[in-house]
Order: sequence, then structure tokens, then C-alpha cells
Amino acid sequence: MGTSAYYRHTVRVRCNFIIDILGGKEFFKGKTLLDLGANQGDFANFFSKLGADVTCHDIKPKNLAIVKAKYPQFKQVECDLNKTFPEGQWDIVLHMRILQHLADPAQAIRNMAAKNSYFIVESRVLDTNDPDLFIDQEYETKDYDMHSNTKRQVGAAYYESVFDECGLSWKRHDDPRLNSGRRRYDWKVKETKEFHAFKSRFWWVWRDS
Ligand SMILES: C[S@@+](CC[C@H](N)C(=O)[O-])C[C@H]1O[C@@H](n2cnc3c(N)ncnc32)[C@H](O)[C@@H]1O
Repeated sequence: MGTSAYYRHTVRVRCNFIIDILGGKEFFKGKTLLDLGANQGDFANFFSKLGADVTCHDIKPKNLAIVKAKYPQFKQVECDLNKTFPEGQWDIVLHMRILQHLADPAQAIRNMAAKNSYFIVESRVLDTNDPDLFIDQEYETKDYDMHSNTKRQVGAAYYESVFDECGLSWKRHDDPRLNSGRRRYDWKVKETKEFHAFKSRFWWVWRDS
């Protein structure tokens, strides 16, 4: 994670895909954008260059310190998504690759949906279409375990059932244009019910007004 060539590639691929599905670069001009789990601010920087007014979020002060050093003009907010959601409203919220780190991703989606309406959501998922299956994993490193000892791994259908419960519309993009390195988004479910580090899913999620 951070600034490896592989990571920069995954950022570029996903940013270009987001631009495509939202109708082009012009979409971002003057929009407010919250980048959750912003890591070192690379997504925020991409969309800032297109005219978005960006806010970077993370749980880790050391990540936000790097963002501040690189991009002092970006707004920042720090909170644990296991407990709460940043206070405020944004035109678009990027919620990418964080749910897989949380103890209760369903509650995190409910918190996400409470005050905001347009989201990009991405996560690693289990290989299953079962909306009720979950596997709670212990954290094996000290890195993410500041506020929780477990992370809940679920299939795409689990998240989708929570989007439905929250009254959100969604479109999943099982699109090969998102693939990078070994990470895959266009794979077929085989019901192994297992966790594979490279199996990911990507959604555009919104609330119809
Ligand atoms: C796998 S990285 C994803 C980075 C980036 N969003 C992406 O898609 O490449 C997960 C990010 O979420 C943050 N994070 C992990 N657990 C969190 C939590 N409980 N609350 C808020 N952020 C968390 C990490 O610090 C890290 O920046």
C-alpha cells in the first residue's frame, strides 16, 4: 500500500473507470468529494485536479499527516468507520476497500447512507452469492487493530442486501477494465465460500431523490 507502482496503477485504473461511469471529467468540476480511507490522498488528488473540492478521511493519523504534507490544501477528517461516519454531506463519497477491514460492515453501510446519497463502493469479497454468509477474521497484524480485533468478510450479496435495506439503488460493475495486476473484478462466483485476496467487487450506489 502507499506509493508502489502497482498501487499507483490500481488508483489510475479505478479513477479512470469512475470518470467513465459518471459521464466524464466535467462531472467533477465544483463537486464536493469525500475520500474515505484516503491512504495517502492519491484518489483525492486525481479528482481535485478535475476541479473537485476534496476531503480526505482516514483512521490513521500517520496517513493523514502524509496527506497534509503532500496536499496541504485538502480538508481532512479522522474517524473510525467501525464507530461512526464523518459529519457532513458531500456530492460524492468514495468508500473503497474499507468495508473489508471493518467488524460490522452492515452498520458501516447504514451510517454511510444516513446523510449522503452518491457513493462509489468497493471491497474484497467472499466467493459466494449467499447474502447471509460471513466469516469473522482476527487481525493478524497490529496495523488495523487499533479499534477492533476482527474484520468481517462477506460476499457481494451481503453488501447488496444492506444497500436494499437502506433504500439505495446500485449497479455492480464486474468489468475487466477495473482489473489490475492479480486483482480481479470480472470473476464468476464458484461458491467456494472462501476468501481470495484478489477477488473484488465494485459498485456505483445512489439514493433516488
Ligand atoms: C486497503 S486501504 C484502501 C485505500 C484506498 N481507499 C484504496 O481503495 O486504494 C484501507 C484504508 O482504510 C483505512 N481504514 C482501515 N480501517 C479503518 C477504520 N476502521 N476506519 C476508518 N478507516 C480505516 C486504512 O487506514 C487505509 O487507508
